[in-house]
Amino acid sequence: MQDVNLTELLSKMTLDEKIAQLTQLATPFFKGSKDQGEITGPMKEMGITQKVIENAGSVLGASGAQQTKSIQEEHLKNNRLGIPLLFMSDIVHGYETIFPIPLAMGCSWDLSLAEKSAEIAAKEAAVSGVHVTFAPMVDLVRDPRWGRVMETTGEDPYLNGEFSKAQVKGFQGSNLTKDFNRVAACVKHFAAYGAPEGGRDYNTVNMSEREMYEQYLPAYKAAIDAGVEMVMSAFNTVDGIPATGSKYLMRKILRKEMEFEGILISDWGAVKELIPHGVAEDEAEAAFKALEAGIDIEMMTTCYVDHLKEQIEMRNLTESLVDEAVLRILKLKKKLGLFENPYRGADERLENEVVMSAEHRAASRELATKSLVLLKNEKNVLPLNHHQKISLIGPFADNGDILGAWSWKGSREDAVTLKEGISQGMDHSLLTIAKGSNIQSISEEDAAEAVQAAKNSDVVILALGEDSEMSGEAGSRTNIKLPQAQLDLFAKIKETGKPIVVVLFNGRPLDLTDIHDQADAILEAWYPGTEGGAAITDVLFGKENPSGKLTMSFPYSAGQIPVYYNHFNTGRPKDAPDAQERYASQYLDSPNKPLYPFGFGLSYTNFLYKNIQQSAENMDPEEGISFTIEVTNNGKMAGEEVVQFYIQDVTGEVVRPLKELKDFRKIFLNPGETKEVLFNLREEQLRYYHSDLSLKSDKGKFNVFIGSSSEDVLSLSFQLL
Ligand code: BGC
Repeated sequence: MQDVNLTELLSKMTLDEKIAQLTQLATPFFKGSKDQGEITGPMKEMGITQKVIENAGSVLGASGAQQTKSIQEEHLKNNRLGIPLLFMSDIVHGYETIFPIPLAMGCSWDLSLAEKSAEIAAKEAAVSGVHVTFAPMVDLVRDPRWGRVMETTGEDPYLNGEFSKAQVKGFQGSNLTKDFNRVAACVKHFAAYGAPEGGRDYNTVNMSEREMYEQYLPAYKAAIDAGVEMVMSAFNTVDGIPATGSKYLMRKILRKEMEFEGILISDWGAVKELIPHGVAEDEAEAAFKALEAGIDIEMMTTCYVDHLKEQIEMRNLTESLVDEAVLRILKLKKKLGLFENPYRGADERLENEVVMSAEHRAASRELATKSLVLLKNEKNVLPLNHHQKISLIGPFADNGDILGAWSWKGSREDAVTLKEGISQGMDHSLLTIAKGSNIQSISEEDAAEAVQAAKNSDVVILALGEDSEMSGEAGSRTNIKLPQAQLDLFAKIKETGKPIVVVLFNGRPLDLTDIHDQADAILEAWYPGTEGGAAITDVLFGKENPSGKLTMSFPYSAGQIPVYYNHFNTGRPKDAPDAQERYASQYLDSPNKPLYPFGFGLSYTNFLYKNIQQSAENMDPEEGISFTIEVTNNGKMAGEEVVQFYIQDVTGEVVRPLKELKDFRKIFLNPGETKEVLFNLREEQLRYYHSDLSLKSDKGKFNVFIGSSSEDVLSLSFQLL
């Protein structure tokens, strides 16, 4: 039945059946699910009829081959036309084998590993019966108070776009119909969810249209160009209209301009949220507005099933809108091969073999290693050696909470903790472990034990951070310092005079001003995933050379937010030669620049940049221009370096950022080795959105910067003819 005729099928469906097809419900509603009958909370209040469940189009959050198969089997027994269910879940950074959180993955600047991690996540999910993942999340972020910064790859539109494509490719492969090891991807959250006011989740987003086109839309567009099957709408408003009811965002930008033809799903409950937002009086109006704006699937509320039919009769809303939405859903079902094989990849035997295989764990370890960012390393306190007496102290010394949010299938028991990682290669008599404090509280006894351990060691590894509930969805904070208990612990350990290596576990850039000056080394480990402790150990002891570079700036303080590298100049730049002492754009009590900038990360070796060259003085728009630079490893250890290529359009029709990342190369250099790195620049890369939203370049002067971070660069210039 592979060539099921969808138009014919659609013509057999009643309007009720069609509308039910547009509804997505959580697993417990369905017969055959493990926890059926235990519907609680808001779901219980939903008053869903059996008829709707029997005709629903998709399931949220089901997994496990056995369960998904039994739900599908039960469903097909009762569904009049034999239309299979789609199973959708949040497989964000791994299924059971958990990879580093996306923000960490961004810091690897490793697109092929990002693709691989998505491929592995897809494989584990697919054999467990999942058809669609709600990933990648590609929202551009500039505010670390927002807990969901952990789900994205950071603050740069170009880099986010590259990771967006890589993940879509990894999840979907090239043939979803034949390749049952892949799943369809759903890019989210359209649009601009990453810019909530004050960093408070679900909050209002306000920005100019130009800014949205230039900074916020490219990463969604990249996913669409890569063939992503689905898009999820955002919770927030954009310019006063909730995204989930915005014809402008969904019909004009997404469907018309970006030419997206796949399914558009609302975020959880977002259709009904049009009421508290204040654009719909009741559920009926919410249903009308969401469908009119373009939402095909309503997730977890029932405005469509309860009201669309009457809305079609009452208002100027044609059934053809419903038909279009249903057809898109049926198309994806067909593409995934579900009419032929409704169980698709679900297979208990394969599930046992594939999920958390040694190969998958190894890939997770590799990505974790590459996503660690060395922020400080005074007097080369790192790498450590195996003859040193080490005390491992802190609430993350032996803590499995290193998977991060959105790792619901991952188990902390499977995670390699730092203690487990370090103990493996070490003479146990040289290692002392003490918790020192909890995440949020400290007791005299724990602190005293930790101080004693520190005193008896040569070097202290202090494993600090936020627990995984402190970031992720609804994890906004106004204070982004380490919790006070841990700062107190730090101060007590500092008094021992022992060198301190801080290892950080967290889902956002933190305000590290309190510890930056006092720690001897700082390694940002993020939530590194299942193999975290092993990966960190490899780096701490120099088996691996750290190569991660930040993709989101670390502020000096929350008061400085937003702080991001690709900002504009002002009319009164602080660093201008003629800047006035007082009336310059600055804070009286803080630098303008972040504590650690975009693109920054240290290595155990030294990379020397020299001899920057350009192929011509002017750029002919037809021909482009190229640049070379020599990078030498003049340290003692082999290592990888991310060579970053930025431009600045010096004078534009509208103000241009001081730097914009346009390209990068990740290179490997042995000690003493030099490589010449080449960047070709084309005129298209110089285009930007003008005041009338036209995308074009301006003739004139451009600066080019190549270097090892957004602030450590060599530069030259050219003219675009
Ligand atoms: C989140 C989405 C997620 C959805 C389904 C929502 O609360 O915002 O990112 O995909 O839930 O779990």
